[in-house]
Amino acid sequence: PRITFIEFDGRRVEVVAKVGTSLMEAAIDNGIDGIVAECGGCCSCGTCHVYVAPEWIDRTGLADPMESDMLCIVDDLRPNSRLACQISLCGELDGLVVSLPEFQL
Ligand code: FES
Repeated sequence: PRITFIEFDGRRVEVVAKVGTSLMEAAIDNGIDGIVAECGGCCSCGTCHVYVAPEWIDRTGLADPMESDMLCIVDDLRPNSRLACQISLCGELDGLVVSLPEFQL
């Protein structure tokens, strides 16, 4: 799927990701600066925080309880906040747009 990351400064970066990888892996593989991913994707650091574009929330879904607990520690939490390591990419997410916060923790 094609994914567009919108950096905090408004710069848009479009990448092509592999089905079955996570949104966090797609960001790291493509050098997206705004994703840190300190824990490597095990939902324990909160440094892969993204805002899913509102029109995509139905397809990505909202955070599950474990992810929500982790999101409590991030700055500037919003209703469309997700941890990128918890979003698995599939063809249905082709065209997904996410924005990045100013800082990761
Ligand atoms: Fe650590 Fe997502 S990479 S919570």
